[in-house]
Amino acid sequence: MEYGAVTAVDGLSFTVGRGEIYGLLGPNGAGKSSTIKTLVGLVAPKSGEVTIFGRSLAEEMPVKSLIGYVPEEVLLFDSLTPREFLEFVASVRRLAADEANGRIGRMVKAFRVEAYFDSPIATLSLGTKQKVAVMAALLHDPPLLILDEPLNGLDARSSRILKELVSLHARKGGAAIFCTHVMEVAERLCTRVGIIDHGRMVGEGTIEELRALVHADESLENIFLKVTAEEAGIEETIKALEGEVRDENGTNAL
Ligand SMILES: Nc1ncnc2c1ncn2[C@@H]1O[C@H](COP(=O)(O)OP(=O)(O)O)[C@@H](O)[C@H]1O
Ligand SMILES: [Mg+2]
Repeated sequence: MEYGAVTAVDGLSFTVGRGEIYGLLGPNGAGKSSTIKTLVGLVAPKSGEVTIFGRSLAEEMPVKSLIGYVPEEVLLFDSLTPREFLEFVASVRRLAADEANGRIGRMVKAFRVEAYFDSPIATLSLGTKQKVAVMAALLHDPPLLILDEPLNGLDARSSRILKELVSLHARKGGAAIFCTHVMEVAERLCTRVGIIDHGRMVGEGTIEELRALVHADESLENIFLKVTAEEAGIEETIKALEGEVRDENGTNAL
């Protein structure tokens, strides 16, 4: 997958099954969002193919409706209220009104957005906008959830609820792809992870498999730093930073 001369994703291949929560991990700029944009059909791969439950993404609408997608930067209609926006999404998805209203009502309660439900989206905090985007993606109960850094801007309670929703979705036989650079989230939530760096898959498996690959008992964060070969640079970077803040007496000011 290329942006002009930049190759953002290179030879990447992975499969996610029903009941799985697949964590796509990688440092900033690794190519996670570009991978996800390819999966949902926002950008076309130069070569290769995306299949969703055995059907090619090229089939367009019928396949795309199997996906619930929360982009990294949520884009909502500022002049609508969450109620209007979610009703609009429900009608685009051709959901029966009472089914949609039931789901919307339950999610509004779970995410505690009752107080903002009739305020223009423009006036909402980042976290509340993020919640509305998540609700819109979940509204038609898609069998495949694709969430790009969905916890950005969410408070602890809402993060927890979103993680519970994703777990529940997988337990009911759905599939989820969860893109994050936060290791602890992947460690606790994902059944399998793929670590990408510079657009390539550098490690893939369950957390246990990745641990066995590197060292038993290592945290995912250490595994991650090892496989992306970033560990070596960290100590030097910290030393350099310490050097910066040494005061005139040569003692460390940190
Ligand atoms: N629209 C774009 N045009 C050019 N380069 C881009 C664009 N979007 C992303 N990139 C580049 O592609 C690479 C992967 O970016 P991205 O997929 O956003 O990474 P991640 O989500 O893992 O942080 C980066 O080098 C980034 O600078
Ligand atoms: Mg990204």
